[in-house]
Amino acid sequence: MSKLWSGRFSEDTDAFVEEFTQSVSFDRELAYEDIEQDIAHVKTLFKAGVISEEEKEKLIKGLLDLKKDIEEGKVEWKSRLEDVHMNLEALLTERLGDVGGKLHTGRSRNDQITTDERLYLKKQLRGILSLLKQLRITLLDLAQKHIDVLLPSYTHLQRAQPIRLAHYFLAFREMFLKDSERFADAYRRIDELTLGSGAVAGVDFPLDRFFTASELGFNRVSRNSMYATADRDFIAEFLFCCACTGMHLSRLSEDLILWASEEFGYIELPDKLCTGSSIMPQKKNPDVLELIRGKTGRLYGNLIALMTTVKALPMSYNRDLQEDKEPLFDSVRTLKGSLSGMIKVLKGLRPKSEVMERNAGNFVLITDVANFLVDKGVPFRRAHEIAGRIVAYLIDRSRRLEDMSLEEFKMFSEDFDESVLELLNPQVVADRRKTFGGTSKERLLEAIEAAKLEEGV
Ligand code: ARG
Repeated sequence: MSKLWSGRFSEDTDAFVEEFTQSVSFDRELAYEDIEQDIAHVKTLFKAGVISEEEKEKLIKGLLDLKKDIEEGKVEWKSRLEDVHMNLEALLTERLGDVGGKLHTGRSRNDQITTDERLYLKKQLRGILSLLKQLRITLLDLAQKHIDVLLPSYTHLQRAQPIRLAHYFLAFREMFLKDSERFADAYRRIDELTLGSGAVAGVDFPLDRFFTASELGFNRVSRNSMYATADRDFIAEFLFCCACTGMHLSRLSEDLILWASEEFGYIELPDKLCTGSSIMPQKKNPDVLELIRGKTGRLYGNLIALMTTVKALPMSYNRDLQEDKEPLFDSVRTLKGSLSGMIKVLKGLRPKSEVMERNAGNFVLITDVANFLVDKGVPFRRAHEIAGRIVAYLIDRSRRLEDMSLEEFKMFSEDFDESVLELLNPQVVADRRKTFGGTSKERLLEAIEAAKLEEGV
């Protein structure tokens, strides 16, 4: 079969060039989207009076048969036909004869490829948004279940102030909610029909692009044919959303990896989600989390790869843009895998509340001891210094704050009274943080209710 563009060429393409320039080995991932747009395009051509009713029916039937053959794995992709578009067109022509050659009227692969990509992204975005929702609900369930578990929060990875475990899980739910909002916002810009832009300047057949858009379920029609064929901002935006979600997933992974270590001992991961070592019999490794953290590198890389490819291209389409697909497919696969992995891990983890709670005491409570003095009228700086001296005194004696008697407190300041002893309890201290967005049980119960409402659960 000769190439679809063979007309002006007098010799065969070099074998290396054929292999180097082909994209069908990866862009066949867009085969169904390509057929979907082919059918809409055929209908638009008929509406414009470019093809007859009979030709329309023949083409649509041919395309549907082709789709079935792809589903059944009966189609052989040929790299000498370069890409998914030309493979499909050639297959169609092989089956239907001359009428197959009418399919590409009023269209270029330049507007065809972005249409496929936008259809593909809309579908993938729906899947990703649903995984993100599952992840948020899993975090919300954990928050509800562990509302009474206390642990220290950390800043600089040093114990800071007591929090409720629910607060921690809701913090990540918040991040994944922001990620979901970003994806949903990107969806609005992706949801635009670019077909009908031609190679660069528009199309000289009277195609009703608004009809095509409604056939394909696009909400808008692109307003400039050069923008539509030259830019890949919509893919870059999607890749950024993936990278940002990856950043959040990686951070959560990092904490959980630390928490599963013997040093922290805050959580137990289910055996079935861990792997062993080929040499050290005692090991139970959190590989799923490590790989989620590790794969975030690809998500960043894919974004940078695409933006670098696009940044210095002369207007408008250049073949460089073919390089947009592998990063895109890789980010979709990677992110879906990481989200599914994180959901599994979260569903299986078991917090060890005794260990967490013990670490939430002692000096983690000292900010509130200082604030006790502030309540009594001591300037904060002075109160901070007194509390610091108490810490030094206890470290010297290898004792915990909870072991301090009222008499000892009074050695440091006459402003202490017996109610300071009530503060020597992580739960009490956490529940004093009642500002909106704080970790008190009161605020967290409200936050959980609000989140349930948002998720519709
Ligand atoms: N495979 C090409 C790509 O992904 C399709 C568009 C080709 N257009 C062209 N003028 N060669 O970008």
